[in-house]
Amino acid sequence: MPNLLELKEVHAGYGPRSVLHGVSLSVPEGGIVSLLGANGAGKTTTLRAITAGVRWSGDIIFGGRSLRRLATEEIVRAGIAHVPEGRGICTELTVDENLKLGSHLRRDGAEVRKDYDRVFEYFPVLKERRKLSASTLSGGEQQMLALARALLMKPKLMLLDEPSLGLAPLVVRAIFQIVKSINQASRVAVLLVEQNARIALELSSSAYVLEVGRVAVSGASADLKDNESVRRSYLGY
Ligand SMILES: Nc1ncnc2c1ncn2[C@@H]1O[C@H](COP(=O)(O)OP(=O)(O)O)[C@@H](O)[C@H]1O
Ligand SMILES: [Mg+2]
Repeated sequence: MPNLLELKEVHAGYGPRSVLHGVSLSVPEGGIVSLLGANGAGKTTTLRAITAGVRWSGDIIFGGRSLRRLATEEIVRAGIAHVPEGRGICTELTVDENLKLGSHLRRDGAEVRKDYDRVFEYFPVLKERRKLSASTLSGGEQQMLALARALLMKPKLMLLDEPSLGLAPLVVRAIFQIVKSINQASRVAVLLVEQNARIALELSSSAYVLEVGRVAVSGASADLKDNESVRRSYLGY
């Protein structure tokens, strides 16, 4: 598969503080790739670099085009949907209003309606609660809303930042299963940031482990999962 996204020696940081020290990684078209690593390793910063949320150097190529100098909105239009850490939904808005934030840039009305139907098939609970404030949703339902909103952007790539955070294991399984179905049905590629390496490696086909702003290990998820020393040193199980 050709690469949809490619980071080449990306450096990034906050003010004078440098956090990423030359990160290179790639996500194939339609693929699922995990980005793992301990708290503070630079996973979120990597996603922020991709969406122009932080200043970076090096290069980031998406669909054959450099994202250098593009603003966040142009990056979204190019087909990258970011589900940030903490989900980024608006709890003062209803479920419906949150979903509209996903689809509002689109001009393909008929397709949008089909995508709403599809999203409600994946997440029936959101259909039931359309008119309710998003603040009434449980943590798992809010994560579903964030995913649904991202899907309504009709992205080529979804960036998911710790979707499992704070959720019960069964809810996490359900959500990851849906991510897998979405990936298979619509070929949307996924860059999945997780501290929960075990479940991330089950979902992804390849993975990168970040350690203080550098890729320490990378490879096929199946190999990383089975590699004793990788497991002990980087994955914590
Ligand atoms: N807005 C910020 N300003 C300054 N430093 C930050 C900011 N966000 C994150 N950092 C620092 O950057 C490093 C990497 O953070 P982050 O990318 O959030 O890691 P991860 O997502 O892997 O936990 C950490 O040392 C963190 O303290
Ligand atoms: Mg993070």
